Amino acid sequence: MSLKDKLSELRQRGLADIKDSSDLKDVNQVRVQLLGKKGPITEVLRGMRDLDAEERPKVGAFANEIRDDLANALAQRKEELEKAVLNAQLAKETIDVTLPGTPVAKGEPHVIQQIVDQIEDLFLGMGYQVLSGPEVEEDKYNFEMMNLPKNHPARDMQDTFYITKEILMRTQTSPMQARTLEKHDFSKGPLKMISPGVVYRRDTDDPTHSHQFHQVEGLVIDKHITMADLKGTLQVLAHELFGDKFDVRLRPSYFPFTEPSVEADITCFNCGGKGCKVCKNTGWIEVLGAGMVHPNVLKMAGVDPDVYGGFAFGVGPDRFAMLKYGVDDIRNFYLNDVRFLTQFTKKG
Ligand code: PHE
Repeated sequence: MSLKDKLSELRQRGLADIKDSSDLKDVNQVRVQLLGKKGPITEVLRGMRDLDAEERPKVGAFANEIRDDLANALAQRKEELEKAVLNAQLAKETIDVTLPGTPVAKGEPHVIQQIVDQIEDLFLGMGYQVLSGPEVEEDKYNFEMMNLPKNHPARDMQDTFYITKEILMRTQTSPMQARTLEKHDFSKGPLKMISPGVVYRRDTDDPTHSHQFHQVEGLVIDKHITMADLKGTLQVLAHELFGDKFDVRLRPSYFPFTEPSVEADITCFNCGGKGCKVCKNTGWIEVLGAGMVHPNVLKMAGVDPDVYGGFAFGVGPDRFAMLKYGVDDIRNFYLNDVRFLTQFTKKG
């Protein structure tokens, strides 16, 4: 077979191999086989030295032509296959933008916060300010200005976490009474505020005690405030939280910062007032402390007790939540067990 024929046959075989190559690896292999140093074309070209001078350039040119043809065919096949790979990948990675997204877990207010929110909404509607105060508090505001000088025996009513001799974790939200009284400008109108927040006591945690719990302080000071105003306000609060059938009664009590002091009971939610185990057969359940602000508290904050006076109360949203939902262990509110907490959300 002449060299020329050999070359023609090589081209045919080469083009067929290129056409048959089914992936990029294949194409590369065919390229090395056909055009590589040990490939048939190189071999043919090597055989050219046996040709005579006249034939050599013709065969050489033909060989080059064939090499170019094969190289072009390889490049084309390579491009085709690359395109196919890209298309397959695009088809696989198509995103259906109409599919629903991955759901993201959404939080809900804690059950205690729900009650605090409800109380805030109610009092905002009656023209009260909502204020918050520091949880790390001065002894001066937490006790002294609340008519509890150092060594006052009633300090024992509230076991205290002291940070230094003068700084403590507030045991009640009542220091906010002193803080707001001190600042209030009575020439601009009466003082009406509530102050929700967390308070701390050195109690051992048990079903009815937590070293950390919530209070909402209330304070109203003006010229002609009476205990009837206090009772009416507490009644509105009971109706809002529990329903219109719930009544409020006041019993005499003692707090150093109110005089007279009362404890407020509401109709037993369990028996409706008939008497049962929950209310120890009294028909009533104690829910908060309150009273008429002690003249000493007003005086110490720079307010004239002969002109101004009013009432204060302190309610415990934790206790409200326990009563409302029949929760018998306060610690549940602080354990952050989602199974417990979601019972009180709209979803739960
Ligand atoms: N601070 C009192 C307590 O924690 C509650 C209270 C507030 C009582 C305001 C009277 C007036 O027990």
